[in-house]
Amino acid sequence: MSAEIVGATAEELERARRELLAGGVVAIPTETVYGLAGVATDPAAVARIFAAKERPTFDPLIVHVGHVRAAGVDQLAAAGIVDADGLGEVARARADALMRAFWPGPLTLILPRGEAIPDLVTSGLDTVAVRMPRHPVAERLLALLGKPLAAPSANRFGRISPTTAAHVAAELGDRIALIVDGGPCAVGVESTIVALDRDGALTLLRPGLLGAEAIGAAAGTTVARAARVSDTPSAPGMLASHYAPRKPLRLGEPAGDVGYLAFSGDAAAIAARLGPRAVVRVLSPSGDLAEAARNLFARLRELDESAAETLVAEPVPTALAADGLGHAIADRLQRAAAAR
Ligand code: TXA
Ligand code: MG
Repeated sequence: MSAEIVGATAEELERARRELLAGGVVAIPTETVYGLAGVATDPAAVARIFAAKERPTFDPLIVHVGHVRAAGVDQLAAAGIVDADGLGEVARARADALMRAFWPGPLTLILPRGEAIPDLVTSGLDTVAVRMPRHPVAERLLALLGKPLAAPSANRFGRISPTTAAHVAAELGDRIALIVDGGPCAVGVESTIVALDRDGALTLLRPGLLGAEAIGAAAGTTVARAARVSDTPSAPGMLASHYAPRKPLRLGEPAGDVGYLAFSGDAAAIAARLGPRAVVRVLSPSGDLAEAARNLFARLRELDESAAETLVAEPVPTALAADGLGHAIADRLQRAAAAR
């Protein structure tokens, strides 16, 4: 198979819709990263997602829902996605407040699973990850389809997430038929994941653009930070090694002929201090977090494909790494550097 990259025209979206309704998988753009989508209520489609990614079935998927104005627990429960009985009054109010504040957008909520969601999507967990993407192409396709889409990032398991259609083709081009091109992703790192328990306690499982502070403020409480990293499948989303380049990567000071991912600064000036065959990429010359996040996976991929044999990444400056995008970039770099 060789994937076709198509523009998001009415005809191509109709083709994507037919493919999805027939149980196929289609790569689609979201505001964070590209996703490999299949109809979330179709176990055969979900199985194809796991197969294409070579993803272990203990790592559950995120369910993407279409844009509606009145998103809330009741509306998700009516669609069978969430089990409202699993949430107390405080939890419901907090979930509703978060959906009102941040949907559509890069916030994934872990909620009690509804009856329409097959076991395979949640790896048998009694919770489900749900988000409403904010990307015109994803929104149009979800509206056309009228069904939720399960979609993990469209990379092979453990590899660097794709932020362009070309990245998806490099990862999965030999395994899927259709990639809908929606341009480069505006955010560039995956959604923030927050778990909500029956009593309404919030736990940050994966940092993203929306920080713990902002999420806590919108919910009227504080957000606990999960233990940083784990290797146990019981803490999905928290696998230590992830987003990994093929080449060894460490965080710290570069020397010699390395591939160096600088957080900020001037690439030529940095290269002048390194070996003659060093390859330098800069996330944001001015140190702007939004720009750095947008560039993160593309630059990491370039270094992975360069002639450099080992990679070094500059840690995110501590003052920026506490929350939100800075925290998200630091988290992804740490996981990319985790020993495999
Ligand atoms: O921005 C995003 O979230 C992108 C785009 C495509 O929407 N998707 C994404 O999916 O990052 P994926 O599969 O690469 O990451 C989903 C994470 C996984 O780490 C998984 O373990 C976690 O969500 N997850 C899914 N269901 C969960 C659950 N019930 N409880 C805890 N974590 C869960
Ligand atoms: Mg992923």
